[in-house]
Amino acid sequence: MSETKFQTTIDPVMHTYNRFPLTLVKGKGSFVFDDKNQKFLDFTSGIATCNLGHTPEFVKQQVENQLQELWHCSNLYEIPSQKKLAEQLVQNSCGDQVFFCNSGAEANEAAIKLARKYAQQVKGTERHEIVTFSNSFHGRTLATLAATAQEKIQQGFAPLMPGFRYLPFNDKEALHSLVETNTCAVLLELVQGEGGVIPADQEWINQLAALCKERDILLMVDEIQTGVGRTGTLFAYQQYGIEPDVISLAKGLGSGIPIGAVIAKEKVAAAFGPGSHGSTFGGNPVATTAGSATISYILEQDILSNAKKMGEYLFQKLESLKEKYEQIDDVRGKGLLVGIVVKGKAIDYVTKAREKYNLLILVAGPNVVRILPPLTTTKDEVDQFLLAFEAIINQS
Ligand SMILES: Cc1ncc(COP(=O)(O)O)c(C=O)c1O
Repeated sequence: MSETKFQTTIDPVMHTYNRFPLTLVKGKGSFVFDDKNQKFLDFTSGIATCNLGHTPEFVKQQVENQLQELWHCSNLYEIPSQKKLAEQLVQNSCGDQVFFCNSGAEANEAAIKLARKYAQQVKGTERHEIVTFSNSFHGRTLATLAATAQEKIQQGFAPLMPGFRYLPFNDKEALHSLVETNTCAVLLELVQGEGGVIPADQEWINQLAALCKERDILLMVDEIQTGVGRTGTLFAYQQYGIEPDVISLAKGLGSGIPIGAVIAKEKVAAAFGPGSHGSTFGGNPVATTAGSATISYILEQDILSNAKKMGEYLFQKLESLKEKYEQIDDVRGKGLLVGIVVKGKAIDYVTKAREKYNLLILVAGPNVVRILPPLTTTKDEVDQFLLAFEAIINQS
């Protein structure tokens, strides 16, 4: 008989998250159900991941079909669903080639490696520095936390990976230092998500994109939170009139099935040859089937129009609440990536919403409430959220 350990009170799961006292067991569309069969309106979408709502039928069907056929196949062989998703991403973006991985951090890791490899091949080893911006969030792996310009994320993990320099976000003056010769790429979110839902200024982006072009610096956008329709267009960069060289994606791409991707322009992608980068699970048949079904559904069912319309409606109503209540300092974001800057603690709003109104919402920093409804949300659901949110304001 094999020996088992004495039962202890220690949680067998590492304590890397402060979890709310709620166990979700089922989801359909914009709603989730807990283990007591209580229903919640989910305006978090698994943090911008279940963009088509929970268990979307079209994606589920395609994934179920794939599960009947083949679960995994190494990247030593052709994978039709991988090719199909790559074609869809290329056809609908300014990029030419795609690398697949399994998460956002991995997508940014690939982007960082790609930028270094490209720069070394084209400019020599001196040109290795990547510039990122204050308040950013790019992931938790060693390279991506070094790219994340937030002390609290980096604390305790020294020595940090070298090769990153940080500039203030939305600061035009600071861009002049990009003229330094060893910068090979910039990496930025067009709406900073975790950092407080802060959109990039159009003029700042124009100047940044122009400088990148002039200095042959790669413009890399982290669309892990903003991509796959979250801001009302398939990619947020499309609203800024720029053409990034590299785009990183994850979260919403698989409707909840883990997947990450990096889309790059041909000249940049060419820096990766066989052996430069890889991933056992990256581009897996099940994950890429989910991704391909997600993109097909978004485009064919015109989900982007709904996201745009619902985003405009939500913003308009929140602006009215801002006029009415001094508890709201600001409403910001794009499409259905919405930040409400509140006077008190954002977490108090989140707790009240869950406990009293069966509504799930998020924070993005101490005083920003973050709202991430599914792109398929309806006016009725938005109204339900607004009613609850106004009631919470009235109690604070
Ligand atoms: C903009 C951005 N980049 C990167 C990441 C990291 O993604 P993942 O948690 O899938 O590694 C996140 C996750 O929140 C993100 O919002």
